[in-house]
Amino acid sequence: MLQPIPIPSQVNTQPIPPSIAAKLSSMRTRIEAFQDRWDQHRAEQFVAADYELVYQTLEWINRHQTQIGSRFLEWGCGFAAVACLADELKWNAHAIEAHADLIGQARKTIRTWPANVDLFDGNFLPGGAPELSLDPTLPSLGHGGQSAYDAWGLELDDFSLVYSYPWPGEDEFHEDVFDRYAAIGALLLMFIGPNEMRLVRKVRR
Ligand SMILES: C[S@@+](CC[C@H](N)C(=O)[O-])C[C@H]1O[C@@H](n2cnc3c(N)ncnc32)[C@H](O)[C@@H]1O
Repeated sequence: MLQPIPIPSQVNTQPIPPSIAAKLSSMRTRIEAFQDRWDQHRAEQFVAADYELVYQTLEWINRHQTQIGSRFLEWGCGFAAVACLADELKWNAHAIEAHADLIGQARKTIRTWPANVDLFDGNFLPGGAPELSLDPTLPSLGHGGQSAYDAWGLELDDFSLVYSYPWPGEDEFHEDVFDRYAAIGALLLMFIGPNEMRLVRKVRR
């Protein structure tokens, strides 16, 4: 089962190193330019999180939460900004994205940051996970890409921290997948919407 972990409300007042703030600022410019060309790529599932808040929360997790290992995974990474932030904070960063144009953008982010991120062009859902959903229209479903876990020779329970930005109404599905496949003690961090992040830990029933 998943145990909620309260994130202090003042986490968004934590300082962000100027070098990271500058990278996030240029990332925002690139994302806006990409979104202006929507008719060319139709990456309608991509919405960018508040990366400053995600950084502040990751940094807080680093200092205050027990972790079972160092592997980090961004589910549906878009431009892979969060995976790069995780690398900055010394996690062993991995990221998965299904959309071809976004994989290209993620590669560019990782190269120019520069960051050490294991990026995979494919599906973040473990085999069997779609069956946990009662709603076949959820945006995370229906991506036919190859399984990243098979390609890496890893399972979801090899990751100590997973991050996702679920579409509205999809958060429970992401939690159900994590609860089914993650290791006991692993953490799931979700960007829910403006100024709202959710952190849970998988614990024994
Ligand atoms: C709301 S965006 C979040 C992007 C980024 N993680 C962030 O926080 O800014 C969700 C992303 O997940 C990707 N995605 C959705 N379902 C997926 C799946 N099953 N496998 C891989 N990528 C997926 C979409 O293409 C989209 O880029």
